[in-house]
Amino acid sequence: ARVSYGALTATKGEYKHFMLKEIHEQPDAVLDTLRITLPDFPFSDDRIRSFNRAIIIGMGTSLHAGMVGRMWIESLAGLACEVDNSSEFRYRDAVLDENTLVISISQSGETADTLGAMDLAKSRGARQLTLCNYEGTQSTRVADGVLPIRAGLEISVAGTKTFVCSLVTLYALAAYLGVKRGYLSEERLANIVQELLHLPEMIGQLLSDQSQYERLALKYGRRANFLFLGRGKNYPLAMEGALKLKEISYIHAEGYPAGEMKHGPISLIDRKMPVVALVPQDDLYEKMLSNVNEVKARRGSVVAVAAEGDKHISEKADEVIWIPKASANITPILNAIPMQLLAYYIAVERGCDVDQPRNLAKSVTVE
Ligand code: G6P
Repeated sequence: ARVSYGALTATKGEYKHFMLKEIHEQPDAVLDTLRITLPDFPFSDDRIRSFNRAIIIGMGTSLHAGMVGRMWIESLAGLACEVDNSSEFRYRDAVLDENTLVISISQSGETADTLGAMDLAKSRGARQLTLCNYEGTQSTRVADGVLPIRAGLEISVAGTKTFVCSLVTLYALAAYLGVKRGYLSEERLANIVQELLHLPEMIGQLLSDQSQYERLALKYGRRANFLFLGRGKNYPLAMEGALKLKEISYIHAEGYPAGEMKHGPISLIDRKMPVVALVPQDDLYEKMLSNVNEVKARRGSVVAVAAEGDKHISEKADEVIWIPKASANITPILNAIPMQLLAYYIAVERGCDVDQPRNLAKSVTVE
């Protein structure tokens, strides 16, 4: 009831669409998420040390957040972590016990498949945390503990700030588990906190001038297909970029781990195919550069999303969207913003109903 009351009274203010308003709310939303404290964390330190495996579940955009979360949990908490689509997880014979930590992500807290997956996890004795944007929803009643993502009301069907706030919450959770498990040093934790405090400002920077996206929408907005490529923590961002674009602009888009390119998608590349390549300066930078070369060799157009000051990439790509320099951990959060803005401006250029795309619902409460 709380959700629908808010939705009735919310206004777009100065913005043309709720989606654009919600994109702009992200610096403040992240600040709110960062205020999260975990006084009611449902597990003792002993229990946290006894977990030998985590499984993250979710659907759609929440699943993509979980795919990044998995990598943080592995690298910051040293905990084996899988990620699965709730609708698959609930019907497979998952092997779970009390040392398994299941982390579900559902901004609405009402997604049927995620609730079904949570019921399965509960019946098999797993411990559960859930990330949710609203208090008192069904998912928050089933889990042992709730991590509120605090994104504020989101009206647009395409998730934007809930995605970014889920990412921030997962990053904080991974660090928390890392500290409690004695895996993350105080020094690394201090660096993480320090950088997180700059995140709202970095997101603000990414929102400041959007004329480039309008230009890109004019240039590429009538193409029939798009490919999004990324590696490591940015592979889920490629998936999310493709999802946002298909959801609201109805352009066919695929998100791929760039290493898979040679195993199929490369056959699609010709001069009509725009490829959005996420090329941060992390350990996989050289590998992404060679993927960009492969696309160019087949006359595809490359829109690179890269770190400010990267001279190599501006020589190779047709277009570059610049991201503030940041650690490899934070970069996927920053990369969410260009994925959202690109989809948004292309959908506007195509005259689509941005906030209410056809056939989609904000929360999918039936299977
Ligand atoms: C629907 C929405 C998506 C959302 C997905 C999962 O498909 O349109 O934006 O990512 O459900 O929703 P949840 O509320 O579980 O995060």
